Amino acid sequence: MRQKLAAGNWKMNGTSEALSDLQELAAAHATSGVDVLICPPTPLLHRAAEIVAGSAVTVGGQDCHMASSGAHTGDTSAEMLRDAGASSVILGHSERRADHGESDATVCAKADTAIKAGLIAIVCLGESLAQREAGETLDIIGAQLAGSVPAGSAGDTLVIAYEPIWAIGTGKVPTLEQIGEVHGFLRAQLVARFGTGIGGAIRLLYGGSVKPGNAAEIFAVDDVDGALVGGASLKAADFSPIITALEAA
Ligand code: PGA
Repeated sequence: MRQKLAAGNWKMNGTSEALSDLQELAAAHATSGVDVLICPPTPLLHRAAEIVAGSAVTVGGQDCHMASSGAHTGDTSAEMLRDAGASSVILGHSERRADHGESDATVCAKADTAIKAGLIAIVCLGESLAQREAGETLDIIGAQLAGSVPAGSAGDTLVIAYEPIWAIGTGKVPTLEQIGEVHGFLRAQLVARFGTGIGGAIRLLYGGSVKPGNAAEIFAVDDVDGALVGGASLKAADFSPIITALEAA
């Protein structure tokens, strides 16, 4: 049985005031049958880790550098995230791929570094609308998966998030059949590459306009082990019912 994961990505949103919402979330989920993760902006990470300590909520980063340390002004290493209290790090989000030109090879190197630093790497992939309309979705996803996931990955330290770019922040969600098709494909690819033990243990999240109102039906799709949530993770009142829906799935 894969442990389910409700992950929130605050992106570049939130200053000190946002921590009161995190406090509310941690109080509401002192214990949980699922893993709960919030990835705040890096300047809030350490304080966020202190706030959630003792609850079911852990905190994570939104990116890290592929090098373990060095002359990389403005960057954050995986070890620094871990030191600040992170359990996990999101890598290769489509916004980083677009804003910072991150390639599959870059994402793969970052994931390798993150896992070696003791973090869970949440590797994101997903097709654009043009790619979906051209019928290229599975080709694109397959290539991103092959290129972004490091060799020697293990079932408990790697998570894959399927996030169609056209569904992120748009309120548009693929059909349940489309989600099921991609997740089934990802599972088959992972089993083919890593075997049933590891390939069957890697968790697959869906991300893109997950809200309290659509979470339960998405969580009922085969091989959906949780969600990566952007907008609806910013407020405890929105994220909490998503956690509850995952616990019930
Ligand atoms: P969204 O973002 O939930 O706001 O669509 C998802 C994501 O980018 O991880």
